[in-house]
Amino acid sequence: MPKLNYSQEELLAQHEYTKKFTHKGKTLHGGLTADGIYHPPRSLNRIDAIENWTDALRAKGKTVEIMDRVKIDIASEFFPSEQQAKLLLKHGCKDAMTRILTIIGVVEGFGNDGIKLLPPMEMQKYFVESVDGTCLSHLHKGLLVAHGNDEAGSSDELGHDSMWYALRDKALDNPLITDDMFENLPMAPPPGYKGKAKAAESVTQITGVGSQLFPQLDMMLELTLMALARILHIEYAAYATFHWAQKVLSDPEVSSSPEWAPNMVGYIQEDEDIHVGYLRCALAETRARTLIAKDGSHLSGEEVIDTMCDTVMKTMGGDRREKMLAHRYKQVLRELEGHPDGERILAEFKQLGAVPALKARSPAVA
Ligand SMILES: [Fe+2]
Ligand SMILES: [Fe+2]
Repeated sequence: MPKLNYSQEELLAQHEYTKKFTHKGKTLHGGLTADGIYHPPRSLNRIDAIENWTDALRAKGKTVEIMDRVKIDIASEFFPSEQQAKLLLKHGCKDAMTRILTIIGVVEGFGNDGIKLLPPMEMQKYFVESVDGTCLSHLHKGLLVAHGNDEAGSSDELGHDSMWYALRDKALDNPLITDDMFENLPMAPPPGYKGKAKAAESVTQITGVGSQLFPQLDMMLELTLMALARILHIEYAAYATFHWAQKVLSDPEVSSSPEWAPNMVGYIQEDEDIHVGYLRCALAETRARTLIAKDGSHLSGEEVIDTMCDTVMKTMGGDRREKMLAHRYKQVLRELEGHPDGERILAEFKQLGAVPALKARSPAVA
């Protein structure tokens, strides 16, 4: 029988690393073991645990696929394409790439801020069926805190936000970072965020108050499940960016760090796979169960999770994505306007791939 119950200490346990990576004197999380293989931070037991919980669900004939469509839809195209991005960099136009990498770092940090808002809760009281030995029952016993530390680092190690800034600076030779790169973001910072990043006007702040999809449910339970679904959507969307960044940054013609930077992107990706794994599992476990409402009545987990996921996909995809891409294109046009050979580069840029339709003001990119 696979192990299904873990202590927080076990879920946070680390491998014995023989090589750690550093940047400007600071240590990055994760590292290589003696066999030269990268292992994400806090993954000595976490990966096995998530696999065991997922297998247990699968063995009962329940789906473990949650919003998988998002990953496929988003993976189809990235703007600017690999070739378009390389063209810009070859001509010294670093602005678009710098913005994209900066915003990834900012959004990674939001992950931790959002997770910290989720109060500990006793999950069993919300479910008819037992949640013993599930991912759900371990959310507040190590999984969320591990995720938050992965995204934003812990007291002595840097996490994803700083890792993206580090690989950006190494690959693009310390590009100029301006305050406007932190504005007009495609998503609102989580409540309580104190940094300088600002959302685009068209992006509404997520408060959850007064806008419950299932008012009969405990509000904190709905907020928690919606947060898991939103973060899962962001994790899926990031796959396309990772793939693109790895290809662009591994080209020595345009990258000053053609090995270290793409390796770092690959390591971050391995860390993210754990996040996708546990978020899917917790949502799928909820979907496979019966929820207990505030008045004691029952709700189908399937209905609740499917409605929540549909809502997240509607609010985070479609029109919002089109606006993000248009904004990204406007930034490219602005940079090329200031380039002495801008017109010729733009003509070549358009030949190398499709460009987004330009409409009204739009938010930036993630
Ligand atoms: Fe991350
Ligand atoms: Fe993540």
